[in-house]
Amino acid sequence: MTAFSIEQMKRAAAHAAVADIQAGMIVGLGTGSTAAYAIEALAARVAEGLAVEAVATSLRTADAARASGIRILDFAGIAEVDLCIDGVDEIDPSLRAIKGAGGAMLREKIVAASATRMIAIADESKDVPRLGTRPVPVEFLPFGRAFIERRITELGGRPTLRLTEEGALYGTDQGNPVLDCGFGPIDDPDGLGAALSSCPGIVGHGLFLTEIATVYVGTQQGVVRRDRQF
Ligand code: A5P
Repeated sequence: MTAFSIEQMKRAAAHAAVADIQAGMIVGLGTGSTAAYAIEALAARVAEGLAVEAVATSLRTADAARASGIRILDFAGIAEVDLCIDGVDEIDPSLRAIKGAGGAMLREKIVAASATRMIAIADESKDVPRLGTRPVPVEFLPFGRAFIERRITELGGRPTLRLTEEGALYGTDQGNPVLDCGFGPIDDPDGLGAALSSCPGIVGHGLFLTEIATVYVGTQQGVVRRDRQF
């Protein structure tokens, strides 16, 4: 029996999603190691003549896409994209997800919200029965740090300020810090998402509860597609 590696499963899921891209689309490109495989696959299709334009959910995605020959538009002038393809940290059976291990969740959520359709791509380790094993990243204004930490604690979370590998304060593309918030198994993702969204000073968080329409999961049995049941 073939044993696929995590990287092979990510790559297979990403390539399956990119096959859904059609000529003339504006595509939202996600951030992270799985999204990098989507950039690779889209670049190959562009090299074969596919006419598409894209927007990027992070500065590093923009750099990688441009370097591989994909035309990147300034998202500030784009109100709607046709299809967004992005990785996840966890995804549950209802296609609710945690994102943001790479710190790009704020731009990712704006692009996802603008998209007619969002496809998540993942290896099978991200497929979970219930959200909460991994932390929920929260981007915030430093001015409100202690208040926001207290609010997150009241919501049952354990906030940890994200640092770089070198031990410096981590900053997003907007220059804001991130609290990685362990909640354990999340019983009420909608309630938690609403509470985080309504907390003054929190500018973005990694709970994606309504955006994802389809997920391609790379598994040991091949790529499995699941669609949100509306
Ligand atoms: C970026 O901030 C994240 O939302 C990523 O999309 C997510 O963490 C998945 O990343 P990997 O594909 O690298 O696991």
